[in-house]
Amino acid sequence: MPSPDEIKEAQRATWAKCSPGWDKWDPVINDQLGPVGTAIIESLGIAQDHQHLDIASGTGEPGLTIARLAPKARVVLTDLAPEMLEVAARRADTQGLTNIETQVCSADDLPFDDATFDTVSVRFGYMFFPDVAKATADFVRVLKPGGRVCSSVWIRPEENPWTSIVMQAIATEVELAPTDPDGPSMFRCAAPGYVSALYESAGMHDIVEWDVDIELVTTSPAQYWEMSSEHVSSAVVALEHVDVPTRDRIGATVTASARDYEKDGKVRIPGLARCILGTK
Ligand SMILES: C[S@@+](CC[C@H](N)C(=O)[O-])C[C@H]1O[C@@H](n2cnc3c(N)ncnc32)[C@H](O)[C@@H]1O
Repeated sequence: MPSPDEIKEAQRATWAKCSPGWDKWDPVINDQLGPVGTAIIESLGIAQDHQHLDIASGTGEPGLTIARLAPKARVVLTDLAPEMLEVAARRADTQGLTNIETQVCSADDLPFDDATFDTVSVRFGYMFFPDVAKATADFVRVLKPGGRVCSSVWIRPEENPWTSIVMQAIATEVELAPTDPDGPSMFRCAAPGYVSALYESAGMHDIVEWDVDIELVTTSPAQYWEMSSEHVSSAVVALEHVDVPTRDRIGATVTASARDYEKDGKVRIPGLARCILGTK
């Protein structure tokens, strides 16, 4: 069992490799994950005088959208991987946002005083933290009494063919390490009530969970394969040392599966996420 520091180091290295893919495919990813960002933002009730903390912000969402919607609010984007946050900072500049700060740090070791923030968002970060209970306690610590946290996690692979198609195709050619139920993985937080129980243990109340449908839309099966192989973290890692003929065979399997989702001249592959809201 790797130590928390080893897990963080592995995560940092993985997301450094994924950052060019997240940068390149930003418009497609934003369209895909936008409904979850909207659900998080609406549930938090952000006001202009708020201080907002976005944890595992990656290339900037939902923090950048919050900064745009509340230009007088202070929005702090945090992530373990500097390469991801560099993309977020560049994006903030391009969008002319002046109320954004970035801070490289781990979710379980936040460099902020107690009771600093009115609201916290964690979009698709929870499953990668080495110790989810420790991280929850830390973001509750930095939240003001009465402040709200909203997170999102992925529900089971069966409900997320946008990622399981690729991982199943890779598994036909590459021996994947068995998933550690307590280690970082995409579906680690999928069980209903999993994140709610963490919130409760950290002292939060008024906890609610709800599901949000998403759809990954690409222009072709080939584009779906190119995109997935460049930004899905588990795929990027699994494909790293694969030779070209093997990669091509995996790509052919993926594009064949993606054809089942062709509709109106696009490839539309569904997914399902869960949002979890709590109050301190
Ligand atoms: C799937 S991305 C989500 C990015 C963004 N929130 C979004 O929804 O577009 C997951 C992010 O979690 C970050 N991460 C992984 N482990 C972390 C940790 N211990 N603390 C903070 N961030 C972490 C990764 O670096 C990566 O940027």
